Amino acid sequence: MSRLLVTGRQKLSGETYVQGAKNSALPILAATILSKGENVIYNCPQLTDVEASLGILRYLGCDVRRSNSTLLISADGICRSDIPHELMRKTRSSIVFLGAVLARTGRAKLTFPGGCEIGPRPIDLHLKALRELGAVIKEKHGYLDCSAPNGLVGAKVTLSFPSVGATEDIMIAACLASGTTTIINAAREPEIVDLADYLNECGAKIYGAGEGVIVIDGCDSLECAHHTIIPDRIVAATLMACAAATGSQITLKGIISSHLASIIPVFEDAGCKIRCRDGCMKFSAPSRLYSMKTVRTMPYPGFPTDAQAPMLAAACTAEGTSVFVENIFENRYRHISELVRMGANVKTEGRVAVVEGVSSLYGASVEATDLRGAAALVVASLGADGSSDISGVKYLERGYENLEVTLSELGAEIKKI
Ligand code: UD1
Repeated sequence: MSRLLVTGRQKLSGETYVQGAKNSALPILAATILSKGENVIYNCPQLTDVEASLGILRYLGCDVRRSNSTLLISADGICRSDIPHELMRKTRSSIVFLGAVLARTGRAKLTFPGGCEIGPRPIDLHLKALRELGAVIKEKHGYLDCSAPNGLVGAKVTLSFPSVGATEDIMIAACLASGTTTIINAAREPEIVDLADYLNECGAKIYGAGEGVIVIDGCDSLECAHHTIIPDRIVAATLMACAAATGSQITLKGIISSHLASIIPVFEDAGCKIRCRDGCMKFSAPSRLYSMKTVRTMPYPGFPTDAQAPMLAAACTAEGTSVFVENIFENRYRHISELVRMGANVKTEGRVAVVEGVSSLYGASVEATDLRGAAALVVASLGADGSSDISGVKYLERGYENLEVTLSELGAEIKKI
C-alpha cells in the first residue's frame, strides 16, 4: 500500500504540462468497440481507471497496445458480450461499456459498476434511456442481462438530470441504432464534446454535443480514427489549488482555458492572478488567499463537483469564511474529518460545508477514501506546517498521473513510499 510523505510550506515554481482527461479517456475507450480497424488514441493518461477500461477491452477480445501516452486499439476481434464483476467493480465508468457492447454485439451481460464511494451512484437513467432505444434489460442477482432483439432503434430520450455517464452511454449506443436519437437535457461537459468528436471522426453523425440537446443519426458501422484526448480540467484545477495553498506562481501548459471558465473566477476572487494565452496559464497566488465566498457545484458550465474538494482544501487557510454547497454527490465531504485533523475549521451540514480559514494547518497522518478527497489532502499537506503522511494513495492513482512527480518537479517536498 503506497503512501505519500509531504513536507509542507515549500513554494512551487516552474511549468508543467497537464495530463489528458481521465473522464474523456474512459468513454472514448469504451466507444472504440463500435469501430472497425485500429484506433490511435493520443494523450491518454496512465491511470488505474484507464488500466481497468483496457482490461475490459482485452477481456472482450480487443487488441490493445500502449506506447507511453498513445494507445492502439482494435475491436475487430471482439468475441464476447459479458463483463465479469471483478472488471466492472474497478471503476464507475465501466457502465458506459453497456451501451457500447450492446450496440456492437446486440447483447451485454454485466454487473453494476464500482467506483469511489461518494454517495449513491444509481444507473437508472442509463437503463431507462437504453430501454427507450429498444433494449430489453433484465436485472437479477446483481447482473444486468441486456439484449436488443430487434436492434437498437433511435428515439427521443429526455434525461431528468443531465447525467454525464448516461449522456455518454446513450450517445455511444445511438451511433449504431437505426434512425435518429434525440437526447433532451443532455450533459454539456467538455468530455461529452470530446467523445462526440472522436465518434464523428469515426464517421458517426452526432450534432449539438456541448449543448442541452444532442441529435444522433444512426449509422450501419463506424471506421477507426486517430484522436487526441483533451487536457484534464480537474487536474488543472488541482494544480491551481496546490499553488494557491502555497502562495506560489506556476505555469500550466497544454490547457483549454474555456473549460476552466467557472473555476478561474473563484481563484481570482481569492486574490490569485491568472493569465491564459495560447493553451498556457500563468497562475500567481498571494501569500494568503482571501475567502472564496460561496462555491456551488453544478453540472457544466457550472463549478465542477470534482474540483470542490481540492478547492475547499485551499480555502482552509484563506482569510475569512468560505461556503461550499455540493449539489451533485452526497458524500463528497468524507475527507473533511482528515482536514480537521490537520487543524482545519470546517463544519458540514448536509450538502453545505462552512470553512473558517485558519492561519495555518499542521501536518498529520491522514487517510484518503476517494479520488478527489485524496487530491484535497495533497493540497492541504503542501500548505501545512511540518510533515504529513497520506495513505489511500490508490485513490489518487485513479485520476492523477504521477502527481507526486509533477509536484516535486515544481519544487514540492513530496515522495511516494
Ligand atoms: C461523471 C464523472 C465524475 C463527475 C460526474 C459529475 C466520469 C468517468 N466521471 O460521473 O468525475 O464527478 O460526472 O460531473 O466521467 N445519477 C442518477 N442516475 C443515473 C446517473 C446519475 O441519479 O442513472 C445522478 C448521480 O447519482 C449524481 C448525478 O446524477 O447525483 C450526476 O451523476 P453523473 O453526471 O452521471 O456522474 P458520472 O457520469 O457518474
